Amino acid sequence: MNWNSDIIKNLSWAGTITNSAGKQKLADKIAEKVKDGDVIGIGSGSTAYLALFAIADKIKAEQLSITAIPTSIEIALACTNLGIPLTTLYENRPDWLFDGADEVDPNHCLIKGRGGALFKEKLLISTSPVNYIIIDDTKLVDKLGTKFPVPIEVFPAALPHVEEKLKELGANSLVLRLATGKDGPVITENGNLLLDVRFDEISNDLEFKIKAIVGVIESGLFINYNVEVLVASNSG
Ligand code: A5P
Repeated sequence: MNWNSDIIKNLSWAGTITNSAGKQKLADKIAEKVKDGDVIGIGSGSTAYLALFAIADKIKAEQLSITAIPTSIEIALACTNLGIPLTTLYENRPDWLFDGADEVDPNHCLIKGRGGALFKEKLLISTSPVNYIIIDDTKLVDKLGTKFPVPIEVFPAALPHVEEKLKELGANSLVLRLATGKDGPVITENGNLLLDVRFDEISNDLEFKIKAIVGVIESGLFINYNVEVLVASNSG
């Protein structure tokens, strides 16, 4: 028996999508990579969202069968709306994945987590053999931390402990991410808090030093992951 949920049917991207022409070109490139039977990890953010719709069009046109492992509830709902079956890491390993990013440096190290889904994003990228990062050129930076702080997911009761340890690692600004649709902080899909943190210096070992703090669930630093970066110019 199927649900008939108007809420799911009427869902759309929450904000405006900047540089939608450029992102749409990337979305189409991602859709071209889809093969029948693929298990695909689906990242979060507006670029990944557009790519998912392009994939849905290709599935319909070519009668393909794929399964998706989403990195967020938002993407799980979008898959449901588009009729793309979901699976989990219990049952399947992704053949490949695509995801967006908030900053990308010349070595293809990343900052991710604006959307708050960094834990699942890192979990999936760590399990998938092929990873496409799709960004417009506004995300390219010479040095990580130029535009974005590093999001860090923190177990709530560990907040003051984590704060102290992050300051010892050179954090010079720590902001608790606040919700807009509720009072108080953003609560992640794993029930945790998010800190947006700026550091004096982002060294190659900072990701592991942050992760070693008890109470840190994950950070949005992705240093030296196996990624192929596809870039759209901001003019389309
Ligand atoms: C989500 O948590 C982030 O890591 C996204 O991948 C990132 O914010 C990209 O979003 P846009 O594609 O909307 O720029």
